Amino acid sequence: MKLDTLSKGFKAIFDCEPTGIASSPGRVNLIGEFTDYNDGFVLPCALEFNTQVAFSDRDDNQVVVHSFQYPNEQDSFNLADDITQGDSQWGNYIRAVAFVLKRSGKMLKGMNLLIESNVPQGAGLSSSAALEVAVGGAFNNVSNLALSKQELALFGQQAENDFMDCQCGIMDQLISAKGQKNNALLIDCESLETKPVSIPKDLSLVIINSNYPRKLVDSEYNQRRIDCEQAAKKLGVKTLRHGTIDMLNAAKSDLSSNEYKRAHHVISENSRVIKATEALENNDMASLCTLMAASHHSLKHDFEVTVPATDGLVEICKGALQERGAVRMTGGGFGGAIVCLCRADDIDTIKHAVKDNYSQNFNLEASIFVCQAGEGLAVVEQKLQNETVS
Ligand code: GLA
Repeated sequence: MKLDTLSKGFKAIFDCEPTGIASSPGRVNLIGEFTDYNDGFVLPCALEFNTQVAFSDRDDNQVVVHSFQYPNEQDSFNLADDITQGDSQWGNYIRAVAFVLKRSGKMLKGMNLLIESNVPQGAGLSSSAALEVAVGGAFNNVSNLALSKQELALFGQQAENDFMDCQCGIMDQLISAKGQKNNALLIDCESLETKPVSIPKDLSLVIINSNYPRKLVDSEYNQRRIDCEQAAKKLGVKTLRHGTIDMLNAAKSDLSSNEYKRAHHVISENSRVIKATEALENNDMASLCTLMAASHHSLKHDFEVTVPATDGLVEICKGALQERGAVRMTGGGFGGAIVCLCRADDIDTIKHAVKDNYSQNFNLEASIFVCQAGEGLAVVEQKLQNETVS
């Protein structure tokens, strides 16, 4: 949405101009799934889909939130009170960010917020991380907190873990905060070091949302994390980042079948991320194909987070692209999207294959997005027009 449309909407609701706009993107993960909370490696990129939060400060302790997407719903809470869950599901993300900032001792000022987002929801493209990071950016600006992008990402993750009850890792919030245009970021989730990896100019990024209705995602997600932590304990390592396939096989009889499979996925996926980073740097499609296919296979059989609709989409696209494109599911699983890396000439090949084969077999309509890697969090002050978060 254009900034002045957002500003006009803000003025109509709050009867004042916003003092700034924080904008934070959704993401697609190229490879490295469920490795983040095991202190491993991930290779996501930010997208050009954004959540924008227009904000202004208030004279009281109230946070008043409206959204373009939910015009009949507003949320409001007082920062001086205990911050608890409210009736609005999206409003709870704002409460969650306020809750963790306040808990850490930050002095927060009341704000008016108007939210707008074009990040597809329920597609596994991190619409919630985009919201948390943008809201964190707004608090950072209004309350002069001087938080770095990494700190904002960590607060966003805490908001999910401690208020929304989703035990996610750091990937989504960190890429949303620190993404770089035309680059993926190799993130070491133990040290939080990031390294930009340029996406070759002739490589297209195609995301296909299965539109499969996701159910029980958080409880399944949290259970996977528990399985991984149990497996690490039995291997005698702090996290599975420090495990090897040899260690896993030596400890096999101590592990439940699920613990073994989850750990096998994580340990093998970590090494695929490192190889895929090199393949991306070398524009080596053959290796990307092999690594992304192995990642999907492992997510299907070892981590067991795919559904027939996402497996079907991967098969359809892989069948059409053959060795000309690398394909896998992406994100938190149990539905959501797949990602294809291919040459521009093959975008139509994918579109035709999906049109001819998906809805008739799965009774769902897929949505196809041809994307570019975009920028991470930006906070623009309306009057000064300059970026304030570095
Ligand atoms: C979700 C979580 C991330 C990560 C992915 C799977 O997106 O929010 O932390 O675990 O799933 O890779």
